[in-house]
Amino acid sequence: MRPIRTAYVVLSAALLVGAVSADHAIAESAKPGQAASSAKGAASPIYGVTIPEGYRKWQMIAPAEEGAPLDELRVVLGNPAAVKAIENATLPYPDGAIFVKLAYKRKQSPDFESATVPGQPTTVQVMVKDSRRYASSGGWGYGRFINGQPADLAQHQTCFACHAARVKDRDYVFTHYAP
Ligand code: HEC
Repeated sequence: MRPIRTAYVVLSAALLVGAVSADHAIAESAKPGQAASSAKGAASPIYGVTIPEGYRKWQMIAPAEEGAPLDELRVVLGNPAAVKAIENATLPYPDGAIFVKLAYKRKQSPDFESATVPGQPTTVQVMVKDSRRYASSGGWGYGRFINGQPADLAQHQTCFACHAARVKDRDYVFTHYAP
């Protein structure tokens, strides 16, 4: 029985590896260029967007603040394609442009009374431009992540509607470049 069992183990391991790399290949081939980022981490519902690798080192486009009830500080970052386009006011954004919005609870500085500083991180939100893959949502794929995990389907059903209602004429992007 030994050899058979060993063969079975080897075979299932091979199948597993095959399945994983096939999955990876599908995920990769669905993304043109730099688009949807690393294959690490879970993908958002509807859009299959993941947190882009290295995003924390991207350039800042603008900060933002959200009042009650969320009371958050935010900062919007862009990958090089997004930064170049927004600096030059190029519309629509090119495929491969990615925006990431980081949000934190707003808190009073423990060191200086009138200063407001980031508290607990709340969400990381992502918009990836891929005009073919995301043709039905204005060319953008959306992802909202909480502690690195994608938020639920219901939350992802709201993204495009709000961006489309307010800023369709700026290719669905709210943020302006802050010099
Ligand atoms: C009710 C309106 C609304 C909804 C719903 C919404 N957003 Fe936004 N989004 C905004 C506003 C307003 C900004 C501008 C920055 C700010 O004020 O935080 C923004 C900015 C962004 C940005 C930075 C690029 C830009 O457009 O400025 C990303 C990325 C983003 N949202 C992702 C998402 C994702 C992902 C979802 C769904 C899970 C979503 N948004 C749902 C209103 C909305």
